[in-house]
Amino acid sequence: MENNESEMVSIHVMGKKHRVPYDLTIMKAMEYAGHQFRRGSGCRGGFCGACATIYRTKGNFKLLGALACQKIVEDGMYIAQIPFSPSEKKTYHIAEVRPDASAFLEYYPEIARCLACNTCTKACPQDIDVMDYVQAALKGDIETAAKLSFDCLSCGLCAVRCPAEIVPYNIGQLARRLYSRHIVGPTDHVRAKVKEVEAGKFDEGIEELKRLSGEKLQERYENREKML
Ligand code: FES
Repeated sequence: MENNESEMVSIHVMGKKHRVPYDLTIMKAMEYAGHQFRRGSGCRGGFCGACATIYRTKGNFKLLGALACQKIVEDGMYIAQIPFSPSEKKTYHIAEVRPDASAFLEYYPEIARCLACNTCTKACPQDIDVMDYVQAALKGDIETAAKLSFDCLSCGLCAVRCPAEIVPYNIGQLARRLYSRHIVGPTDHVRAKVKEVEAGKFDEGIEELKRLSGEKLQERYENREKML
């Protein structure tokens, strides 16, 4: 069916102009324009953080960021996908890491350069108080850092914008791991699930998956129950 021209907007994807329906997300608009997502797309529901996208709007010098699967297009939007966000996650044994500020300073010493400029918070498409959790981590307040960062998807837009080259989502992840390992410990539902795993509840299903050919496995994956 033809779209009504009055319901179309113009967007630019990597410099090329396209007319797309006004009510599509950036991701769907790019697909409408013929772009195929091989990378930069995962859950399509705002959960996985794979679709971080940079854009500009007409007449606005600011570089803005969004999740492509969530943000609705605007007329005159200039869109560029970023291939990945910088992240070097350190390897550690969480049981051996002390749950205080020294953990962050040891694994991510760049955290000490935080200028408290709040750029990370402004860049977050989840409206998370990123700067506040980074500052809490610096003070050794693991619980606050873990709780404030709880909704983080690791999309990387905060890291892309941080002038001190901190990767805030690594800090949040370490805080949440420290919090659950050293402060709250395993919750009842985790203990119950571990018991089920140990009792072999999922063994048959896993064995069945292991027997499938790559093709069948892909078919099963594509027909899985999806959130959207
Ligand atoms: S594709 Fe998963 S958050 Fe957008």
